[in-house]
Amino acid sequence: MDMNSIKLFIVMVGLPARGKSTIATKLKENLVKDDIKTRIFNNGDLRRVMLHEDTSRPEFYDPKNREGVGLRRKMALINLERAKNYLGKNGNVAILDATNVSLERRKTIAALLKSHPLLFIECINNDVSILNASIRRKILLPEFQHLTEESALRSFEQRIAYYKSIYAPLEKEENYVRLDSLNNKILEEKLGSALPFYDRIRDFLVTDSVKNLFLIRHGETFFNLENRIGGDSTLTKKGRSQAASLGFYFRKRNIPVIFTSDKKRTVETAEPVRDLQKNCAIIRLSEFNEIDSGVCECMSYEEIRDKMPEVYKARKEDKYNYVYPGGEGYRTMQERIDRGIKKALYLSGNAGNIMIVGHRAVNRMILANFLYRRREDVPYIYIPQDKFYHIVATQGRKLFQLKRY
Ligand code: F6P
Repeated sequence: MDMNSIKLFIVMVGLPARGKSTIATKLKENLVKDDIKTRIFNNGDLRRVMLHEDTSRPEFYDPKNREGVGLRRKMALINLERAKNYLGKNGNVAILDATNVSLERRKTIAALLKSHPLLFIECINNDVSILNASIRRKILLPEFQHLTEESALRSFEQRIAYYKSIYAPLEKEENYVRLDSLNNKILEEKLGSALPFYDRIRDFLVTDSVKNLFLIRHGETFFNLENRIGGDSTLTKKGRSQAASLGFYFRKRNIPVIFTSDKKRTVETAEPVRDLQKNCAIIRLSEFNEIDSGVCECMSYEEIRDKMPEVYKARKEDKYNYVYPGGEGYRTMQERIDRGIKKALYLSGNAGNIMIVGHRAVNRMILANFLYRRREDVPYIYIPQDKFYHIVATQGRKLFQLKRY
């Protein structure tokens, strides 16, 4: 069959900040790599270009505000027309990226896009902490720049509330996928008719894609000098100079976001990197805090060996499964580390480069997520302070490299 004659409309559905644009871009990038001509039609982008009034104010999204409803409908119709034209010419896949949460809107779309098969993809994520972090990132957009952080947050939340009031999950539509966009998990799938490219699209939807992840351990701390574990020590002079070298090394890479733990040593290591970037945010995730060593917090390994020989011995015997009294073990960290990785990938959208500045045990667990290691070997993975791991894990490429900075 001639490739030029295979056509598909994809319509995104979901409340704001649910990862629709990230999924749309991921689909496009993967389809294009397969020589499938794909274009995204985003209503928000069109609104920002075409409407000169302030469309960031929440009332614009009130379903009772006739003017706002009319203008948003107008943007949607323009994009539908453009998507139709695109497929009418040589495009294969047109992705309509907008909330499309009301039944009424989706009926209009289905009625106007009859020329080719149509797949709806609903993005769902109700994790409160991730939504909050995601909204905090959204309000950095230029359209919120005239507001204080507090009022930008309120404004965006009110916007979401308006969309919620007209939200109808996919149910009646002929072809759809309901996706947990945090975990890349298909929650429900209904295919009433054969859809072109669906086998690949389904696979792209459930596959994590990490273009470039730079995994770094914080620089040297005062606790490191004394072999003490845990705590919240700051960087030594050498640690600060390591952080400065790191910033210099990455100055020409565009790093839009750096994830750290809540601890001073990771934030202090990330700051010089951020300071040499044009636009870079540091996001602290408590999921990346170092292993909680409970009763042993702030002790040195020698003190543990002398004062708590039973702890020292038991840990030596089975480091992966051992859990510090009142604290954690590698095994029990697994869940929060997985969660931290999901959060970081979700919050970084489709960024080409992501950086995580973590800790020794944390970085071992993050590495183990991407690299097969026997569990008993994970607590011994080499995590130096003057080198970083560069990880690529996309459908077409896998890379895992330890580099000096
Ligand atoms: O020494 C630094 C440190 O990050 C401690 O805070 C932590 O308890 C330890 O490394 C983890 O490494 P290990 O599991 O080998 O003791």
